[in-house]
Amino acid sequence: MRICILLFTFVVSLASLPAQSTPSPRPLPTGAAEAEIEAKISALIGKMTLEEKIGQLNFPSYAFPREPQIEAVTKGRIGAMLNVANLDHVRVFEEAVQASRLKIPMIFAIDAIYAFHIAFPVPIAWAATWEPELAERAAEAIARETAQIGVNLTFAPMIDISRDPRWGRVMEGGGEDAYLGAAFSAARVRGYRKGGLATSAKHFVGYGAPEGGRDYNGAQISMSELFDRYIPPFQAAIDAGTETVMASFNTVNGVPVTANRPLITDVLKTRLGFDGLVMSDFAAIMELKNHGVAGDLAQAAEKALHAGIDYDMESKAYDQHLEDSVKAGRVPVAEIDAAVRRVLRVKYRMGLFEDTPGGQRKRPPPLDEASVRKTARDVARESFVLVKNNGATLPIGPQSGTVALIGAAALSVNDHSWYGPAGLEKPRTETLHDALKARLESKQTFLFAPAFADACGLSFEDKSKAVETARAADLIVFIVSEDCAVSGEGASRVDLGLSGVQGEMLDALAEVGKPIALVVETGRPLVLTDASEKVASVLIAWHPGTEGRTALAEVLTGEFAPSGKLPMTFPRSVGQIPLSYNELPTSRPSTGDRYTTGYVDEKPTPLYPFGHGLSYTSFSYSGLAVGKPLLTRDGTIDIRVDVTNTGSRSGQEVVQLYTRQLVAARSRPLRELKGFQKIKLAPGKKKTVRFTLKASDLAYHDDTGEPVIEPGKFDVFVGGSSAADLKSEFRIVAE
Ligand code: BGC
Repeated sequence: MRICILLFTFVVSLASLPAQSTPSPRPLPTGAAEAEIEAKISALIGKMTLEEKIGQLNFPSYAFPREPQIEAVTKGRIGAMLNVANLDHVRVFEEAVQASRLKIPMIFAIDAIYAFHIAFPVPIAWAATWEPELAERAAEAIARETAQIGVNLTFAPMIDISRDPRWGRVMEGGGEDAYLGAAFSAARVRGYRKGGLATSAKHFVGYGAPEGGRDYNGAQISMSELFDRYIPPFQAAIDAGTETVMASFNTVNGVPVTANRPLITDVLKTRLGFDGLVMSDFAAIMELKNHGVAGDLAQAAEKALHAGIDYDMESKAYDQHLEDSVKAGRVPVAEIDAAVRRVLRVKYRMGLFEDTPGGQRKRPPPLDEASVRKTARDVARESFVLVKNNGATLPIGPQSGTVALIGAAALSVNDHSWYGPAGLEKPRTETLHDALKARLESKQTFLFAPAFADACGLSFEDKSKAVETARAADLIVFIVSEDCAVSGEGASRVDLGLSGVQGEMLDALAEVGKPIALVVETGRPLVLTDASEKVASVLIAWHPGTEGRTALAEVLTGEFAPSGKLPMTFPRSVGQIPLSYNELPTSRPSTGDRYTTGYVDEKPTPLYPFGHGLSYTSFSYSGLAVGKPLLTRDGTIDIRVDVTNTGSRSGQEVVQLYTRQLVAARSRPLRELKGFQKIKLAPGKKKTVRFTLKASDLAYHDDTGEPVIEPGKFDVFVGGSSAADLKSEFRIVAE
């Protein structure tokens, strides 16, 4: 939904806004406050006309000319609006609210996902830090910037689990794993809420599993898989206080989620206990016609409301049709009232009403730009994943007398802010060219050739000059970037190789015979099988944001050591997708022989597994011990391991714990992440890392989605990736 974003204008300088006191994060009301809110809502609903009730469910996008929308707000026919990204415009609508009969405050929402002004790395990079606290800080900073223009809700976090890098939206999420995804989901919700925005956890559910990796395509997901794999991040968001959830565009098992009462009402609202509001995605109610489940907009409105969609984002279906549907007896007023109650509950919880228990919401004070930049730099530094480093090629040391930087991406200041607002002056962004040049020692020679005519290497500028430059160097740093137009919404790919002519350039550089450090800017796992064979080092930099290229130079020169780990598997071939570390065992485990699981033309294993990532030092694991190797269904178990920095410089390691249940009523994954901790160790130092697992952490879901804790034997693996080989075992006993 980009069109409306182009309409944004900013006439207000952030710095000129008055600072206000911080009430956030606003805790969810409990007990008496909750009862007080429900009583106020009942009284308010009692005063509302049918038209005003339906108005509370109407959530259009800001449009020009705006007079009709101002009039609609005055009549109580619009309760929320998206893309009003300007304080003056927000005030116009707030005045219209004051002129309305019941003066019900509005929700103003935008997609402040990883950028408002300063662009952060894309969220998959946040997950690559394996440091949820950093994601919380990032979300808080983005929210604090965004809240200054009167917006009070963000369409974030995007928490769809995906094992399919063909799908362009993997860059917005937390990767392939439910446990890691849930940790980041909760952290992001906490951060945005702390920063003064309500959140919309999206997209419920299965949007990350489209068949063929094609955006908007349907997914086939069993109940057990739904609860094991896709729901945990939503449960985490609900537990962290998300006020709203956005329903996804896709079908699940043939029924569009927007019209899916079993998923929205029975699972999300009833089983998961979500009592906030559920919004449709952009124009998704109207698109029920395209799905072939509604003949016209009126039927689409009726089906969506009945499914449990409280907010109609942009379809105008509720606005145009629900009144007639009620009058014709096709929609009970009780269904409308239930949706209105949820909307008003969220508005109360957000503190939008004057008489909110606990006082009215204030905008949090703005953060100064330097501190937002610092957080953006911290996230970028911690997110880079060094997946290969033969011969300790990185960091660039004094032994590399001449360093050749190749690639036009080194001149790019594109911060890839997907929904970055137009109108605000683009923040100063250092290029990799400048940042690296400034960090080399005075004795070192810096050479540069752009090679390509554009940052994404779609065509050559001068290939032979780049080769010549490389010949003169001791070390080649080759930066490639995934074509900037091919990640994000509606950007699925079948080919995950290097974009444009970047692969051809790499072939030519490889022939030079000098060590190559390949830096990859990308929004998704790429297929780097051939590329990685031709280079000594590969550093995955994601799309690193406004501070990203400076952070990149710090890491390349060793000022800061990489510590990121992959939140998604990097496959060897597109044909392996979907590919994940936590697959189920098969009847014929792979041995490499024919008639065992795998491919005749490719290994079944990934190129770089989930959780993988190197440092400039090395770590060894020993002494894995399980406290008391038996636990009951309500028990806990302590696991500890010693981690030693065996290299010569300090570094950070993400210690990961995986389990496998060996025998159960249904096949259980070969490994499942159940814990992680990021630690910092000086050279030669050892640390004992402890984990506590509850038996309930080891539950899985049956065919009805009910959790099962099944007695039996478990293997436990601890190490620095999902391929960890240090192993122990324990058992859950019946009593
Ligand atoms: C996207 C949502 C986004 C919405 C509003 C849709 O196209 O799927 O993630 O929040 O537009 O911009």
